[in-house]
Amino acid sequence: MFNGKQILITGGTGSFGKRFIKTLLSQYEPKRVVVYSRDELKQFEMQQDFDQPCMRYFIGDVRDKERLVQAMRNIDFVVHAAALKQVPAAEYNPMECIKTNINGAENVIHAALYNKVKKVIALSTDKAANPVNLYGATKLASDKLFVAANNMAGSQGTSFSVVRYGNVVGSRGSVVPFFKKLLAEGASALPITHRDMTRFWITLDQGVKFVFDNFARMHGGEIFVPKIPSVRITELANAIAPGLPLEDVGIRPGEKLHEVMCPADDSYHTYEFSDHFVIAPTITFNSRNNDFGCNKEGETGQLVELGFEYNSRNNEDFLSVAQLIERDLCE
Ligand SMILES: NC(=O)c1ccc[n+]([C@@H]2O[C@H](COP(=O)([O-])OP(=O)(O)OC[C@H]3O[C@@H](n4cnc5c(N)ncnc54)[C@H](OP(=O)(O)O)[C@@H]3O)[C@@H](O)[C@H]2O)c1
Repeated sequence: MFNGKQILITGGTGSFGKRFIKTLLSQYEPKRVVVYSRDELKQFEMQQDFDQPCMRYFIGDVRDKERLVQAMRNIDFVVHAAALKQVPAAEYNPMECIKTNINGAENVIHAALYNKVKKVIALSTDKAANPVNLYGATKLASDKLFVAANNMAGSQGTSFSVVRYGNVVGSRGSVVPFFKKLLAEGASALPITHRDMTRFWITLDQGVKFVFDNFARMHGGEIFVPKIPSVRITELANAIAPGLPLEDVGIRPGEKLHEVMCPADDSYHTYEFSDHFVIAPTITFNSRNNDFGCNKEGETGQLVELGFEYNSRNNEDFLSVAQLIERDLCE
């Protein structure tokens, strides 16, 4: 699907972007891969590891519509991964988060439509489902923009879909590197915000594979949600530092005890497939009439029961300490 094609990744220097590009280059022979992000140092460092002739590095901000239009010239596929994603930072700097995550999404859509990009996948987060923090609210707004964008594209134009998943093991700013840093510094206890807290848990490779899979599956308009395990924060801390005491530090601004991925209110338009869910659009697309219970790969799903919610507390799949270690999730 990506052989001979031109692909642009906003936020290509981030945790997701780098792993996505590594996988792309190992499995396909793309014609051109464009990294689009702001910081020249991160791009310089990335160039040391990714110096293949097809690689291009564009300095640019997703807030800058004109630059995005320029960067997407001749591009076939876009992955929109650029975001401000730290919950507390978004609570204290709401307008900055809105400019990047919402206005940036609008700009990506505009540039993709203008350049007749074939398919766009935007990354979302469980925090966008029933959001309680500004980060999640901006990602929900972004999800809505990408779903609605299919109406602007018409029947033959760009298809836009969303991939929504939970905490990525080991990504920048996440809890595993944080705990490990404290451990390396000789901490006598690990801080946890609440003993009952649960989170969805996905590895970077699983997240990247899910995005690749959904480029093939998408009609446009879906929110794709993978079935992934949950972890209890106490068990995660025990897996990283067996026997070390835990110190309760209280829930942070904008934090939830448990995360939701498919809200109960969306159950009437949520389909369950073998390894994922699809939240179908609630709006009708004027020039497209897709059956979201059957994807472009021919896989079929069933509508979930009314009131069904996919959340990290009621998840049937929980990782134990032993499984966390066994599955190498703490590395
Ligand atoms: N990590 C997780 O646990 C997780 C979970 C669920 C969903 N997600 C979503 O997955 C996506 C990727 O996350 P990640 O973990 O890879 O994040 P990350 O490591 O923090 O990378 C973010 C990337 O976005 C770029 N960026 C930030 N602001 C930008 C702007 N205004 N214009 C252009 N580029 C900008 C950053 O580079 P510069 O700073 O140089 O611009 C960087 O390349 C995000 O959309 C996030 O919401 C992440």
